[in-house]
Parts: sequence; C-alpha cells; structure tokens
Amino acid sequence: MKASAQGPTNPSRAALADRERQSYQRFLAAARGYWANDMFAALRRHVAVEVQVNDPAGAGRDEFEAQVKNQPTYQLFAWFERHLQRMRYSGPRGLVAGVEARREHLAAELAQPLPQGLLELDPDMDQPAYYTACDIHQHPGGVGADTLAAYVYRDAVRGGVVGKSTLHERFTKQLTSRCRPSRVLDLGCGFGRSSHAFAAAFPDAFVHGIDLSASCVTVAAHETPEALRPRMRFTQADALASELPANDFDLVTSTMLLHEMPEAAVHMLIAETGRLLVPGGMVAHLDFLPPSDPLLRLVYEGHAERNNEPYLLEHSRIDLASAYKAAGFRSVEIHDFAEDEHARTDPPHSWRLPWKIILAVKEEA
Ligand SMILES: C[S@@+](CC[C@H](N)C(=O)[O-])C[C@H]1O[C@@H](n2cnc3c(N)ncnc32)[C@H](O)[C@@H]1O
Repeated sequence: MKASAQGPTNPSRAALADRERQSYQRFLAAARGYWANDMFAALRRHVAVEVQVNDPAGAGRDEFEAQVKNQPTYQLFAWFERHLQRMRYSGPRGLVAGVEARREHLAAELAQPLPQGLLELDPDMDQPAYYTACDIHQHPGGVGADTLAAYVYRDAVRGGVVGKSTLHERFTKQLTSRCRPSRVLDLGCGFGRSSHAFAAAFPDAFVHGIDLSASCVTVAAHETPEALRPRMRFTQADALASELPANDFDLVTSTMLLHEMPEAAVHMLIAETGRLLVPGGMVAHLDFLPPSDPLLRLVYEGHAERNNEPYLLEHSRIDLASAYKAAGFRSVEIHDFAEDEHARTDPPHSWRLPWKIILAVKEEA
C-alpha cells in the first residue's frame, strides 16, 4: 500500500473525502445485496427455464455448465461479483485508500502499549510461497503486506456475512456442548474475531491466536477487550510449522483458513494439528466445501476465480475425512452450517457460501 502523493491536505477536504468514500462503500454494499438476492434469484429462474440437460450433476455436468455460462444472466452475475469486489478494495474510494487516509491515526492506535506477552512478532519468519503468490480476495498485497493491511481486511468484512459477529458466535455455540477446553489454539486468527469469540465462549480457557500476518496479530492484540487480555495471546507464526510445544492444546480451531491453502499445505496443517493436540483433543474448522446442487456448485467454482481464491478448487477435491483418519484422528464429522438465522441451506433464497463445520478427535493412543 503506497501513500497517496495527492491526498487531501486540510481537515475539511479530508472529512469530505472520507464521507464520499463511505457513501461509495455503502453503494457497493447495496449493489452486492442486489447481486446476492435479486440477481441470484433471476439466475435460478432463468436456468430452470432455459437450461434443459439430463443428469446435470453427473454425466450431463459439462453440458449443463456450458449452457449456464452461455446465459446473459450468468455472465452479468459473474461480472458483478468480480467488479464489485475490485471496486471495494481499489481506486480512490476503495478500502485501501480509506486506510491510507487514516494511516497516521491508525498507526498511533497500534503504538499504544500492550500487556507483556499478549503479542509476539517474528520479523524473521519466512512466509510460505502460496501465501504471497496472489492478491487473495482482490485485496492488493493481501493481509500480510503492510502494517495496516489488517485494517483493510477489517473494513472489508464489515457489513458482509463474514463480518457479522454472529458468524463466530454461532460456530462457538456448536462446540460448547461438545468440549470444555482449557487451552485453545486458533489457526489463521486474522484480526482476532475468531479468537475473541472462543475466549468469550469458553470463559475458563486460555486462547492463543496465530497468523502469518504481523499486521493481523498486532491488530488482534490491540482489539482484545481488557477483560480477555489476561487469558489471550497472539503470535505471528505459520500454522503449518508453528514451533509451539507438542501436546499443549485440547482444542485447535480455524475459521475460513483451510480453503485459502493448497492441498499439500492442508495435509501439513492436519499433521501439525495432530502434534499440537493432547490425545483426545478436538479439532474444529469452520470453512467451505462444494455444494452438490449443480448450479450452486458452478457459482461456487466461479467464485474461486472471481474472488481471487486460488486454492478453493484444490481444497474442494480434498477428502478431509480420510486425511484426518490417516493422520491419527477419529470421530470425523462434517456438518452444514447456517451462518445466520435467516440462512436457508436447501434451496437457498439468495447466493450464500457453502459453510461447513469439520470436526475430528485425536486418537488417545
Ligand atoms: C479469511 S482469514 C480468517 C481470519 C479469522 N479466522 C476470522 O474468522 O476472521 C484467513 C487468515 O489465515 C491466515 N493464514 C493463511 N495461511 C496461514 C498459515 N499458514 N499460518 C497462519 N495463518 C495463515 C491469513 O493471514 C488470514 O489472516
């Protein structure tokens, strides 16, 4: 993220630019709502009428997909997804420019002192090649490139489904009846929302969040409410080789991490999770797996390209249940997950990501 040489120079121009940016972002959010609801409903209707293929989920899949891709409604739907996301991040009213305009103020927030041990950075850490290969989500430079990149990510998720606090609360609620961990590790903790939700859901647990991005763990530490600080830690570390002690956690979790990794990395992460968990400890991921409905599957696979999700298709092909069993886990479960109280999974009224909860228990012996 580069500083703008021509940004507003006096406070009133800066305030005006900020208001313009905010209304532009509100417009994009409304357009995104139209895309996910009305446009998706139109796409479903048009496909039902115009596309007639036998066995669209099996032998007729290629023909079905070719016919859907030929529909103007699909092409418009795809164009909206790609370009609304680009407009959100880039350009003079994009989120990157918005954070740049607040650089001084945000940097001052991050300069505030933190309690000893809440944040550990590793400036010498090597980032895996897969992580820097692409501007994931169309976020220029990604969440690891700049000290303030986590604020761009935070602004991006606000207002969307993945930005709702209920997402993480609903996930942790599914786990409170299944386990009572005393030590939780949150892999790929981002700017801390998932880790904070675990600390709130398990009031007796110590929660440790790790992420490759120095910006993410720094913002996560600063955003940690006072009351949670004594039993939280954020560390810049690689979930594939964390260098944390073995057999030290009774719950290892991640939210929206697995689909951002190539297949080989997912297998490394499963092995590392097995090393970190105590025998009988549980792993719980909230992530995406491909839907079986042929139209939803096509839209999901197209989302990989349109949203810059370079490993989503690879991730879709991994047999996670077998991978966990082969790595010494038992009781593997994969469930649908409704991200909010209105989410309908079958059939959906609007376009939604195919959320899944993936659970497994490390063998005792
Ligand atoms: C989509 S974000 C999810 C953040 C957070 N869990 C949440 O729910 O808001 C994925 C995060 O995984 C991190 N990540 C990707 N690969 C990683 C790895 N090998 N080790 C640690 N973190 C990783 C990214 O930096 C990013 O912050």
